[in-house]
Amino acid sequence: MGGAEAELLALSDRLLKSIDGGDWNLYASMCDPSITCFEPEACGQLIAGLPFHKFYFDLPRGSAPKQSTIASPNIRVMGDAAVVSYVRVVQKLDANGGPVSVAALETRVWQKQAGSWKHVHFHRAPL
Ligand code: GLY
Repeated sequence: MGGAEAELLALSDRLLKSIDGGDWNLYASMCDPSITCFEPEACGQLIAGLPFHKFYFDLPRGSAPKQSTIASPNIRVMGDAAVVSYVRVVQKLDANGGPVSVAALETRVWQKQAGSWKHVHFHRAPL
C-alpha cells in the first residue's frame, strides 16, 4: 500500500472513531461543509451538508460503547480525489446490554483541498 493509500485508510479509521466517540468537532473538521451522502437514515434521499449528521452527534449518548473496524478495504487514488471502500463492522450493545455486531458496506470519497484530504461524499448500505 502506497503512502497516499495508507494515509487515506488512517483518515477513514479516524473518521469512524470520531463517529463512534461522538466527537463532532473532529468529524466536522475532516468533512467538506457541502458533503453529500446516501445512508439508511436518509430514507433513500441524497443529503447535502453537515447539519443532518450533527443531529446524531447531539443526541444523548450515555456510556454505551461502540467500536468500528474497517475490513477488506480498497483504496483508489485518482490525483486529488480518492475512493475508499470497505466493510464496516460495528460492535455495540443491544437493548439488553449484550454485545452485538452489525456490518455495512461503506464507500467514502475524499478530495485533496489545499494539501489536506477532506471527506466529500459517502454511501452506506447494510449488508
Ligand atoms: N453518518 C455519518 C457518517 O457515517 O459519516
